[in-house]
Amino acid sequence: MSGIATYGQLSQHLMSELVSIVGDGYVLTSPEILESYSHDETEDLHFPPAAVIRPANTEEVAAIMKLASLYKIPVTPMGARTGLSGGALPVFGGIGLSMERFDRILRIDERNHQVTVQPGVITQVLQEAVAEKGLFYPPDPASRGSCFIGGNVAENSGGPKAVKYGVVKDYVLNLEVVLPSGEVIMTGANVLKNATGYNLTQLMVGSEGTLGVVTAIVLRLIPLPAFDKLLFIPFPDATQACAAVSAVFRAGIIPSAMEFMERAAVELVCRYHPELIIPLPDKAAAFLLVEVDGNHEDLLVQDCASISTVVEAFGAGEISFAESDTEKTKLWSIRRLAGESVKRHSVYKEEDTVVPRAELPALLENVKSIGRAYGFESVCYGHAGDGNLHVNILRGDLSAEAWEEKLPVAIRELFTEVVKLGGTISAEHGIGYVQKPYMPIAFSEIQLEIFRRIKKVFDPHNIMNPGKVIDMM
Ligand code: LAC
Ligand code: ZN
Repeated sequence: MSGIATYGQLSQHLMSELVSIVGDGYVLTSPEILESYSHDETEDLHFPPAAVIRPANTEEVAAIMKLASLYKIPVTPMGARTGLSGGALPVFGGIGLSMERFDRILRIDERNHQVTVQPGVITQVLQEAVAEKGLFYPPDPASRGSCFIGGNVAENSGGPKAVKYGVVKDYVLNLEVVLPSGEVIMTGANVLKNATGYNLTQLMVGSEGTLGVVTAIVLRLIPLPAFDKLLFIPFPDATQACAAVSAVFRAGIIPSAMEFMERAAVELVCRYHPELIIPLPDKAAAFLLVEVDGNHEDLLVQDCASISTVVEAFGAGEISFAESDTEKTKLWSIRRLAGESVKRHSVYKEEDTVVPRAELPALLENVKSIGRAYGFESVCYGHAGDGNLHVNILRGDLSAEAWEEKLPVAIRELFTEVVKLGGTISAEHGIGYVQKPYMPIAFSEIQLEIFRRIKKVFDPHNIMNPGKVIDMM
């Protein structure tokens, strides 16, 4: 394994070389800066870089990578640091390569429904800019108001709309990438179909900054749908709520969002965000938040009627239809703030499990029975239409020792069950640093060795976001 001893240090000489590349104000080493770049949103992990570098353009990134390659300095690309798997943590120190200055939308190509964007643009800013032209970039992680599009590409992010519109990989057409050597490539072409050689674009998407630094992104766009309807559906039984999910699709409807929340998730949001308090029926154990969208309002009304009929068979209570944009925003805020509210409430560990959609009830049952066996409470919510359940395991009253000892065993058991159900261990948060030990549950040794060989082709010195996704033997 490549340990810290194999890496070079950021000597005075190297620091002045870096200053000569990016300019004086963009090589940062103050304790406050290093502290703020030492964490993302993953648990309470802290790994400070030795220096934060803020390049302004591709040429500067290329020059930094050439230098890092020559002196074997680890480089961790960093976006908005909203990640949930520790993908942007500089676990071996070295350079924290902040992409904050890459914050421009370079071109909205209305003729071809494409946008070229730099990686440091906030996802919601991008969505709003294309929406002004009647265009739609659907992937919408919960953190879309603060996360960067570059981080979304690195993690192949999803979000609620993925169920109808797909995840980031379904929109990326072409990438400009600075390789660890400092060479610059485009990965593909700005076309919707491409059967020309190996698919380097898709290899880069979701590679978590371990193969290169993305410096420009070409995305396809679609027309913005004109209407949407939002339903908030209570269920007395959480497993039945999960069972209703696949039944909706089998009835021929593809919702534009199909989100699941246990009652505890909604209650925690309301506790920490009192402005979002909504009346919850006494008997409701879980909720589905279901959205349909399209260009014909009457068809959406029909879809809502069909959904109501389907969910009734699973014991659904009285459905609330969001009447106004304000009500819609409130319900979506509740859903988007679930993760943050759980984090405020307790020491916790968040898992991003995914199974084929119809196995969701079995997944939820497994989560609860593993919790009972190990003495953990859990709060679950997530993108039910994708079979993607965010499992938040709470430390609650457990002692720190019991937590440290039992948690990895329980997670291992959970992931083993997930894989047995035909699923895998991360749907949209990535492997990063924290899920790496569990990779052998999802992959055989041969598969892991293929990953290592791919990594070596791009990054022979293991300087590009080392310590993530896979350990190099
Ligand atoms: C969400 C994040 C945690 O769905 O993925 O809220
Ligand atoms: Zn999510």
